[in-house]
Amino acid sequence: MLFGRKRKVKIDENRLPRHVGIIMDGNGRWAKKRGLPRSAGHSAGAEALKKIVTEANNLGIEYVTVYAFSTENWKRPADEVKYLMSLLLDYLKNAEKNLAGDNTVIRVIGSRAELGDEIREQILKTEKLTEHNTGTVLNIALNYGGREEITRAARELCADVKDGLLDTESIDEKAVEDRLYTHGQPDVDLLIRTSGEMRLSNFMLWQVSYAEMWFTDKLWPDFKPADFRHAVNEFGHRGRRFGGI
Ligand code: FPP
Repeated sequence: MLFGRKRKVKIDENRLPRHVGIIMDGNGRWAKKRGLPRSAGHSAGAEALKKIVTEANNLGIEYVTVYAFSTENWKRPADEVKYLMSLLLDYLKNAEKNLAGDNTVIRVIGSRAELGDEIREQILKTEKLTEHNTGTVLNIALNYGGREEITRAARELCADVKDGLLDTESIDEKAVEDRLYTHGQPDVDLLIRTSGEMRLSNFMLWQVSYAEMWFTDKLWPDFKPADFRHAVNEFGHRGRRFGGI
């Protein structure tokens, strides 16, 4: 699928991941190396993300999910949490300007109840503003945790059984999937994590079941469109068996 842009690199379009998950790690270390406050690393990280989203659109990737703020990130110092939230708010506010020409659909996944009113309202505005775009769907995982997402799905299933809308026996994987934040979207095909860490950190636990993992030592603000193409290209050469032979 092409989104009206020319491809920059020769990547086999039959072997593109439909859904790429990204754990954007290393902003703090990037800043520390430069003697800058951690906030500067997060700002640089937000700039890096804009370029990667543009590249995903250029390549014709259908879905990208980025881990922007986890359910565990509230443990960070209050000023860092505040800065991250303001950065996210700006990103959403400027979505039209930043992503002009990209045709990106923005969705926010995660638990909204704990977020401030301003950011909650902006999420609704930005989602509405971009919902009819036809390019890459960018899921921003905000106050997101994979365990919280699955727990929430379980709670909804129980409520539906209690209300007589569902039989316990008819609960299958699709019934769970239908209650995830990413319902209707394909599983993650390719999971990228930067900064040399090799953990899932509670990211998309259900959706990454058969994902190919790609790790790099580069810190997130240094992660460039060429690195993204490299990961996508390597994905195209992996043999996926989904449990078969
Ligand atoms: C991990 O680096 C990164 C985060 C917890 C936040 C990710 C946020 C951004 C890339 C910018 C804002 C995002 C959007 C969508 C505008 P770290 O702080 O844990 O780095 P460290 O491990 O080196 O300390």
